[in-house]
Amino acid sequence: MEATAAKTLLGRTLFYDPLLSADNTISCASCHSPYNAFAHTDHKLSHGIRDSIGTRNAPALFNLAWQPKLMWDGASHHLDMQALAPITHPGEMAESIENILKKLVSSNTYPPLFQDAYGNDSITSQRILKALTQFQLTLVSSNAKYDRVKLNKDTFTSQEISGYKLYQANCKLCHAEPLFSTYSFKNNGLAPDTNNYDIGRYNVTNDPKDSFFFKIPSLRNLSYTYPYMHDGRYRKLREVLNHYTSIITSNNNLSLELKNGISLTTNDKADLIAFLLTLNDIDFIFNTDNTFPRETLLPQE
Ligand code: HEC
Ligand code: HEC
Repeated sequence: MEATAAKTLLGRTLFYDPLLSADNTISCASCHSPYNAFAHTDHKLSHGIRDSIGTRNAPALFNLAWQPKLMWDGASHHLDMQALAPITHPGEMAESIENILKKLVSSNTYPPLFQDAYGNDSITSQRILKALTQFQLTLVSSNAKYDRVKLNKDTFTSQEISGYKLYQANCKLCHAEPLFSTYSFKNNGLAPDTNNYDIGRYNVTNDPKDSFFFKIPSLRNLSYTYPYMHDGRYRKLREVLNHYTSIITSNNNLSLELKNGISLTTNDKADLIAFLLTLNDIDFIFNTDNTFPRETLLPQE
C-alpha cells in the first residue's frame, strides 16, 4: 500500500478504536459518527467516558482543511494538536498519550500499520496525531445536489431556486458558498444557554466584543447533523428558521449582518428548507472509505 493511503488507514483505525480512552469504551467515532456527517445526533451535548456530559454539541467533521480555527470558540487552530484535547479530557476519553503508546505497542494490530504508514514500526505520539489528521483531512463533502447543479450535472426545482434566492438574501454573508460558512465567529442572536452560560469566543480572546460569539457552522449535511447550534438546542430546521425570524434585534451582542432582522413567510421557510436539503451529500455520508475499518479493527480469520 502506498504511504499516504497507509497513513489514512492508520488514522482511520485510530479514529474508530476505543483503545484511545482510559477504559477502552469511547472512540472518536462515539461522538463523531460517519452516518451523522461525523457529528452526534442522539445528544444535545456530547457524552463521553463513564456517562459524563460535556458542555457543547459535537460538531460535524468535514472540509476541515478549509477551517482556519477549530472548536466552537476557535480554541484550537491545529488539527494535529486538536486530538489531544478529547483524548486527555477527563469527561471525554480521559486517557494519557503515554498509556495509549503502551497499548498500541503491545497490540497485534498497530505495529504493522505504523510500519506501512511510516516505513518503520516506531510508535510515537506525533505519528498518532499526524495519522488522525491525515484521515480527517480525507473527509471532504463536495458532492451534494448543490455541487452537481454548479457543475451543470443537475438542476434545481423551482422551489429550490426560490430557496436559493432567500439564502442569498439572508444567510450568505455568514454561511458563504461553497463551504457554506466563512468559518469566522459571530453572534446569531441565541439567548445565552441557561445550563452552562457559555460565553464562546470570549473565553479564548478575553475580548468582551467576542462575548457569545461562536464559529459559524457549515450548512452542508444538515439532515444528518441535528441537533443544531453549539448547545444542540434545536432539533428541526424549522425551529432554526423560527429563531432567525424572531431574533430580538436590540440584543447587544448580535452581529451586524443580522441587525436588520430576517423576515420569512411560511412559504419562504419551506422554500429555504428545500434549498438547504440540496446541501446534503449522500455520497459523503455513505462513503465506505470513511466508515468503521473492518479490515483492521475486526479479528481476521
Ligand atoms: C465525548 C465526545 C467526543 C469525543 C470522544 C471526541 N470528540 Fe471531537 N469534539 C467533541 C465536541 C463536543 C467538540 C466541540 C468542542 C468545543 O467546541 O469546545 C469536538 C470538536 C472536534 C473537532 C473540531 C471540529 C470543528 O469543526 O471545530 C475535531 C477536529 C474533533 N473534535 C476531532 C476528534 C477526534 C480526532 C477525536 C478522537 C481522538 C475526538 N474528536 C473525540 C466531542 C468529542
Ligand atoms: C451573523 C451571521 C449569520 C447569519 C446572517 C446567519 N447565520 Fe446561521 N449561524 C451563525 C452562527 C454564529 C451559528 C452558530 C451559533 C451558535 O451555535 O451559537 C449559526 C448556526 C446556524 C445553524 C446550525 C447549524 C449546526 O450545525 O448547528 C443553521 C442551520 C443556520 N445557522 C442556518 C442559517 C440560515 C438558514 C440563515 C439565513 C436565514 C442563517 N443561518 C444566517 C451565523 C449566522
